[in-house]
Amino acid sequence: MPGLQSVLVTGGAGFIGSAFVRHVVEHTPAHVTVLDKLTYAASPAALADLPSERVDLVEGDVADPEVVEPLVAEHGTVVHLAAESHNDNSLDDPEPFIRTNVVGTYVLLEAVRKADARLHHVSTDEVYGDLALDDPKRFTEDTPYRPSSPYSAAKAGSDHLVRAWVRSFGVRATISNCSNNYGPWQHVEKFIPRQITEVLEGRRPRVYGNGRQVRDWIHTDDHSSALLAILERGRIGETYLVGADGERTNLEIVRSLLRIMGRPEHDYELVADRAGHDQRYAIESGKLRLELGWQPRYADLEQGLADTVAWYTEHREWWAPQKAATEAAYAAKGM
Ligand code: NAD
Ligand code: DAU
Repeated sequence: MPGLQSVLVTGGAGFIGSAFVRHVVEHTPAHVTVLDKLTYAASPAALADLPSERVDLVEGDVADPEVVEPLVAEHGTVVHLAAESHNDNSLDDPEPFIRTNVVGTYVLLEAVRKADARLHHVSTDEVYGDLALDDPKRFTEDTPYRPSSPYSAAKAGSDHLVRAWVRSFGVRATISNCSNNYGPWQHVEKFIPRQITEVLEGRRPRVYGNGRQVRDWIHTDDHSSALLAILERGRIGETYLVGADGERTNLEIVRSLLRIMGRPEHDYELVADRAGHDQRYAIESGKLRLELGWQPRYADLEQGLADTVAWYTEHREWWAPQKAATEAAYAAKGM
């Protein structure tokens, strides 16, 4: 596509969305409009230091056509990240996941169709379900969909809608499915920030079940560079898997964090398991690397974790207000 001039980013006040907005401001001349409902997961503070002439924030619901249609028509290019994103919450109350992730994507697709806009849809590797711990395979673009949780089923539904709108209506869209992100500004409900902030508050990390589950970690800056590469150079109608070869068991991550934070490596607690807990995710990202020349910059996960520990240590005023309520909700479930 010709140089990016203007882009609408849904969910741009969230963890990955705000990292992507920073990346666009740094690497392109484009003006960015963020459409975000500002749910509990949003962090407008993550956008506060960006130049106001480059970034606007519109508070609104991606499932509301009256808000979405004029914004899509005005911008012509959309990157869609708005979603309810936490598996544990989807087990407690699936309704907002269906509304935002499925209905929201439908409303956006209709607006994109009417405006003949370009869409990049941001999705997750969880749509493929899980791999067995002893399975040497990794997910590819051809892996069948087999989601496990209300969150991943809703994301899978949104991916299917995008593909149907490409095929039936000729909508110009791409899809990416990325593995687990880490980095600054991630809500303390998620695994890595939860454990770092537990240690910073003088408590022990809390590991679900036996801790042998595997996640494939990628720094959110590397996800952002992949999203921009796909938006600018990806082939319409194609799907790209995004991952940085960061497979670790949950126990390995917790031990690394404890080491970085100067605590004994066995100083964690095993707590109640997540219902339907996916065992292993692993991404084969050769298509993205070969076709678009993308490479992750954070090759060293230990260094990325150390940077993330340093960031949470320095940003207590940001996470502290979320922390007590998040832990109270977990405690009520024995997690
Ligand atoms: P997040 O929960 O940190 O942020 C989501 C953002 O969407 C928030 O700012 C929230 O206010 C906004 N939002 C929620 N409902 C909305 C609505 N109805 N209308 C407008 N905005 C709404 O999530 P995240 O981790 O940054 O994930 C962003 C996207 O990336 C999601 O689509 C998620 O499925 C996908 N993804 C996440 C990961 C990960 O590891 N976190 C990995 C792969 C893909
Ligand atoms: O794979 C991509 C997905 O990664 C994204 O689509 C989701 O939006 C994102 O939340 C993430 O999903 P997970 O369920 O893998 O992430 P979460 O941080 O919730 O948990 C990571 C692993 O750590 C998982 O095996 C559950 C475990 N866990 C989690 C928490 C919060 C613990 O052991 N203890 C905890 O306290």
